Formats: sequence, C-alpha cells, structure tokens
Amino acid sequence: MTDVELHRGDALEILPTLAEASVDAVITDPPYNSGGRTASERRGQSAITKYVSSDSAIASTFEDFPGDQRDQRGFLAWLSLVLGRCLRATKPGGHLLVFSDWRQVPAVSDALQVAGWLWQGTCVWHKPIARPRRGGFKAAAEYILWGTHGPFDSSREIYLPGMFSASQPRGRQRRHITQKPVEGLMDELVQICPPGGTVLDPFTGSGSTGVAAVQSGRHFVGIEMSRHYHQVAHQRLALAGRTDLQTDSQTDREPGRGSCSESKTPEG
Ligand SMILES: C[S@@+](CC[C@H](N)C(=O)[O-])C[C@H]1O[C@@H](n2cnc3c(N)ncnc32)[C@H](O)[C@@H]1O
Repeated sequence: MTDVELHRGDALEILPTLAEASVDAVITDPPYNSGGRTASERRGQSAITKYVSSDSAIASTFEDFPGDQRDQRGFLAWLSLVLGRCLRATKPGGHLLVFSDWRQVPAVSDALQVAGWLWQGTCVWHKPIARPRRGGFKAAAEYILWGTHGPFDSSREIYLPGMFSASQPRGRQRRHITQKPVEGLMDELVQICPPGGTVLDPFTGSGSTGVAAVQSGRHFVGIEMSRHYHQVAHQRLALAGRTDLQTDSQTDREPGRGSCSESKTPEG
C-alpha cells in the first residue's frame, strides 16, 4: 500500500512543515527560469511561449504556471533555499535528482552545493523528438543533476543508466507544458529510492514523479502551487493509486491511501 500526500502551496513554505529526515529521495523538475536577458523579456514571456513551440497544435490548450521569471541571480538564490529545505526533509544518505536545461546547469549545480548536497553527477534525458536548428545543433537533451545527503549506500545492488531516451506524452496523455514522461524516464529515476521508500517532489506539476513512485510501490509527497496543476496531479495520482490498489474502495475517493491538502499560500 502506498501513501500519497499532495499539498497545494509554495514549496518554500510547505517544505519546513515536513518531518526532518522523513523522505528517501527528492526528485524534482523546478521552473527552469531559463532565457530572457532583460527584465521585460522575462516578464513578457509566459512559460507556454518559452517551452512550447508556437506552431504546436497543443500550445494554446495548456494552463500557464508560476515561478518562471527570475533572473540568474534570483534563480540561484531561490533554488538554493528550496534545495536546503529539501535536504532537511531527506534522510542522511538520501538522494536528490533535479532537472535542468543546458542553460541552467551551472546555476543548478551551484544551488545544489550551496544547499549542502554532495554533487554526484549529471544524467542525460535524450528527447528523440526535438526541433532541428538551422545552422546548428538541435536541443535534444535535458539534464538531471544528482546529489546526495552525505555519503550514500554504495552496497545497494542496483546499477542505473546515466542516459534515458523518452518522448514527452502526446495527445490526451499530455496534461502539462513541461510534463516528463513516466515510461522510460520517471519510472527509471524513482529506482534511486529504495523499494517501499518515500519520494518527495516539491514542484509536482501534473504529478509524473508521483505516478512513477506510486506505480512502483513507493510512497509520495508532492507540493504544487498552481491550483489547476494540483488538481491534475490529484487526478493522475488517484488513477495510479487505483491501478495498484484495485480491491481497495477507499482509492475511489482519495489519491492512493494518502491525503490531499491545501495550504494557505497564494495562487500563482
Ligand atoms: C516544470 S513544472 C513540473 C512539471 C512536472 N515534472 C510534470 O511532469 O508535470 C514546475 C511546476 O512547479 C510549480 N511551481 C512553481 N513555483 C512553485 C513553488 N514556489 N512552489 C510549488 N510549486 C511551484 C509550477 O506550477 C509547475 O507546475
């Protein structure tokens, strides 16, 4: 039986309310805050215009999301605070996986270390469907920076790949602008959490980390600021919970066997 706890609110405010050393792994995909050299460029660009190509048929169907307009220094300071609060909630020896695009890798690796994590390496998510760039290289990859809360248990008999190739969900499966695929990516990443352990994602979005965690029998704690995406994650987690817990009628009302809460923080 898996426990799911899904909070709505600002990760910076909710993370300190989690019990110290209560999760085994933090796996998260924060707003990248990428691009935009000037303040007006950053304010003028919604996440949709940044992350979905304008000729995409799905571009106009997604809800925007908050927290993606910081400049480089603001992003570094903010992410350092968030990751520091994640460290407090993580057991010694626990793991951190943070997504980044190519532009923000230096800031994310700095933030991870400022927050007190040990940087252990960087994995690659290869996206087979990426737009070519005339005269140059296509941006066909994103990156997953790996850190640990001090030394980790290297006696565990698992050997995980350092590169993953998977496409973003399409059609009705696609619920979020920057949704990560469960199959071939998130279902591999959650293996870093010991079986039956707890995964935390403070930027849950549509819940892809949580779905992978629950489907593999791990517990999940999620935080999402947008009311819309909190609801989407709730729906996806409820479905994932039902798959696991077919005979348990409680799962018809709740995501997994856990709880779904709303904090007092403002809507983004
Ligand atoms: C890059 S998306 C995550 C997408 C997710 N990996 C998925 O597959 O659906 C980042 C999410 O963080 C949320 N967010 C932004 N700022 C936040 C904050 N301060 N606290 C909690 N969530 C936040 C956004 O609403 C957005 O849904």
